[in-house]
Amino acid sequence: MNNIDHSELEHIEKASLDELQALQLSRMQWSLQHAYDNVEHYRKSFDAVGIHPTELKSLSDLGRFPCTSKVDLRENYPFGMFAVPMEDVVRIHASSGTTGQPTVVGYTQNDIDMWADVCARSIRAAGGTKSDTIHVAYGYGLFTGGLGAHYGAERLGATVIPMSGGMTERQVQLIQDFQPDIIMATPSYMLNLADEFDRQGINPVESSLRLGMFGAEPWTDAMRKEIEIRCGIDAIDIYGLSEVIGPGVASECLETKDGPTIWEDHFYPEIIDPASGEVLPDGEYGELVFTSLSKEALPIIRYRTRDLTRLLPGTARSMRRMDKITGRSDDMMIIRGVNVFPTQIEEEILKLKECSPHYQIELYTEKQMDKLRVLVELTPEHDQMSNDERSQLAGKLAHSIKSYIGVTSTIELRNVGGVARSEGKAVRVVDKRSR
Ligand code: DLL
Repeated sequence: MNNIDHSELEHIEKASLDELQALQLSRMQWSLQHAYDNVEHYRKSFDAVGIHPTELKSLSDLGRFPCTSKVDLRENYPFGMFAVPMEDVVRIHASSGTTGQPTVVGYTQNDIDMWADVCARSIRAAGGTKSDTIHVAYGYGLFTGGLGAHYGAERLGATVIPMSGGMTERQVQLIQDFQPDIIMATPSYMLNLADEFDRQGINPVESSLRLGMFGAEPWTDAMRKEIEIRCGIDAIDIYGLSEVIGPGVASECLETKDGPTIWEDHFYPEIIDPASGEVLPDGEYGELVFTSLSKEALPIIRYRTRDLTRLLPGTARSMRRMDKITGRSDDMMIIRGVNVFPTQIEEEILKLKECSPHYQIELYTEKQMDKLRVLVELTPEHDQMSNDERSQLAGKLAHSIKSYIGVTSTIELRNVGGVARSEGKAVRVVDKRSR
């Protein structure tokens, strides 16, 4: 499993820190200047704090430049943040935007090429080769998942099956017929597919798949173990966001499986204190911020991702890694003063063999108090449990959520199929609180 051929790595993946940092500095100087010269928003925001791109003499000077947020992209909807004329833009993507306006991103041909390169690099890091057949179950369309994975797989020279999301029954049939080696999907959709395998009387372990590249939503190491055992595959974490490029900003290496390596030659990471905006040293938890170093159509300077994690030193590559994302600051629930992330609840659920990884969290109001209810499906082996056994199990889960996370919750155990299945990004929190 760990027979990775390092001779196939790009030079920069094994470069010394000095070489990497020199490249980052010259690219960063270019990117800041490009943004300043061609995007009114950056010109105004740099001028407002009296800083100019020529003042960036070292990588740490980046911290003196203002951050960019989703609000800035929304205020410049749809194309106001583009730094090249529309005739040079060859592709548009947009984030789903469950609330408010979607954020729109654009790519030049060079951007598409760089994106394909980093996605190919990600698949190679996961152990994929040109001999592999790759089933892409990320959605194709305005979402970056499908097309990003697709171009990366093609760039690697692999065979691509552009399945997209949905039509779960047919996906399983085609996996049986086309015998892919690798699947790319959200982790929650992989679980949905595993259930469909079972429904069709096929053990997912027996499928042709050997590797899965999962991302686009937070997932825990407990979930990784669950998927690996249930499906008999290696499960690798791939990270990205549309504002920065799409999938392939960072991806895990098979030989270490210790958090996504950030492709720092194109995307420069920082961790900041989300409250004060202060840059934190590597190893400390905070909000992940990215600056694009080579993007043409949409240079992004110090973009606040709202993703909470920390930066770790390189292991399989010289570039730094990010720890698994705990959650997004937007997903953080504050229940009577206690901060709770869905991933923390996921960990407690997966400690119990009777519980499946299908869950949803409901927030509601009772007597003017915020309350938390966790809906969890029992596994097929346990859904015949008696009522007594159910209330014991519910008590056990509520107890561990209280002792490990510090919140009181009500547990609702459901039979198989009782919690809505995901076809892309899972909806983990439903907020029914009255305001
Ligand atoms: O989700 C891009 C992507 C597609 C990544 C396929 C990986 C695979 P957006 O729709 O813009 O782009 O959503 C970006 O999703 O800020 C994170 O909150 C979350 N996210 C993405 N990858 C991971 C991951 C795509 N591996 C937002 N772990 C990001 C945890 C992730 N969260």
